[in-house]
Amino acid sequence: MASYDVIIIGAGPGGYVCAIRCAQLGLKTAVVEGRETLGGTCLNVGCIPSKALLHATHMLHEAEHNFATMGLKGKSPSVDWKAMLAYKDDVVGQNTKGIEFLFKKNKIDWLKGWASIPGEGKVKVGDEVHEAKNIVIATGSESASLAGVEVDEKTVITSTGALDLGKIPKKLVVIGAGVIGLELGSVYARLGAQVTVIEYLDAITPGMDGEVQKTFQRILKKQGFDFTMGAAVQSVEALKTKAKITYKLRKDDSEHTLEADTVLVAIGRKPYTNGLGLDDLGVRLSKRGQIETDDHWQTNVKGIYAIGDAIDGPMLAHKAEDEGMAVAEVLAGKKGHVNYGVIPGVIYTHPEVSNVGKTEQQLKEEGRAYKVGKFSFMGNGRAKAVFAGDGFVKILADKQTDRILGAHIIGPAAGDLIHEICVAMEFGASAQDLALTCHAHPTYSEAVREAALACGDGPIHA
Ligand code: NAI
Repeated sequence: MASYDVIIIGAGPGGYVCAIRCAQLGLKTAVVEGRETLGGTCLNVGCIPSKALLHATHMLHEAEHNFATMGLKGKSPSVDWKAMLAYKDDVVGQNTKGIEFLFKKNKIDWLKGWASIPGEGKVKVGDEVHEAKNIVIATGSESASLAGVEVDEKTVITSTGALDLGKIPKKLVVIGAGVIGLELGSVYARLGAQVTVIEYLDAITPGMDGEVQKTFQRILKKQGFDFTMGAAVQSVEALKTKAKITYKLRKDDSEHTLEADTVLVAIGRKPYTNGLGLDDLGVRLSKRGQIETDDHWQTNVKGIYAIGDAIDGPMLAHKAEDEGMAVAEVLAGKKGHVNYGVIPGVIYTHPEVSNVGKTEQQLKEEGRAYKVGKFSFMGNGRAKAVFAGDGFVKILADKQTDRILGAHIIGPAAGDLIHEICVAMEFGASAQDLALTCHAHPTYSEAVREAALACGDGPIHA
């Protein structure tokens, strides 16, 4: 048994970042993690491996579609799937070992095993009970299940199975046109699979800017995606080597079926708090199973905190990281803070899609007077040079004060460009502040400046 200032349960982006900050602030820190490697879902079976596969398959797509135009002639590369998976595993290994190194460097103890909280100030791992002045639950989330659909991670898979398939499917059905479905759908579409996405709603990527949704869906269709919208999946039946999917169209209740080699269930994620003993402790959960916390991420039980996917808010690694750092500061007697109004979201397809702040729909609902500055990547020389003119930057600013309220980007490097706007928003900048900032030519970021100019006297290249 050991005694700590803080024990964090879960070594994902929320937990490991919290641990490092706690240690940096002088707290004696341990992290409980039952996986063989650190990094949680994100590093092991989420963000990082999917980005490796997205990168590799994007290279293939470029070779097949754009090389010849640039005078690069010859046969496109063939796919060695096993080698591609090995590359992905290597990337994961480098990252998870990196966290292990950071733990050692910061003198953080890794308590290997699955934790429960037998009482206030106590964390049980295996047969040992450790003491902690404070406990931070950072146990993340798991894939949501769908009634009538049994996942075997071979034919009917979640994102975890999709990162380790035995072979590339000929036909892949994706249930849910959210971030996971479209990113992993892109991987397999580029590898030659026929991808059909079945989505309950009438638009893809719920909650995103309407114009981005439409442009994004049009581009994905051009890339070979097939969409069945407004369809509720009723069941998935695993046959010998295939699966049969039954869905109902919402508009007329008609029932349809289709077959696929592989079915990816990507209908959202839910908090993972199994086995912690929260019921016995009396920790309050919301109806959706999220741990309820106050402004300082403390649950209704003193000394027990929670962050990341296990609590309310967007299920994003970087949101969890920010909460991890903030809660560490609270525990060290400082003033931890997260600005939930400026959390970017990124979809790592090609083109990338990103957003921060309010959508037009939200501003309308709030009855706020706003203006829109939009600029197409077609007017951006750099984007055109690399076949990436499809897409735009859209900035929403307050009509009276010009203060930036939100931004929505679809286009090259959208996931990086958004951060210029995040910083601007953190400083309470106006669109004019961005427009008056010199942007290097030729860069994609000029499209951000042009969108900011479009909030004022107008863009130059449109
Ligand atoms: P999601 O919430 O993004 O999308 C799920 C989609 O499934 C929705 O469009 C929903 O309408 C649809 N759906 C639900 N039930 C359905 C049914 N019965 N039939 C047909 N469609 C149905 O969830 P997703 O893609 O599974 O992602 C889970 C979480 O992981 C999200 O919070 C996401 O933000 C996060 N994530 C973030 C990534 C990123 O930041 N790039 C990458 C991957 C995941």
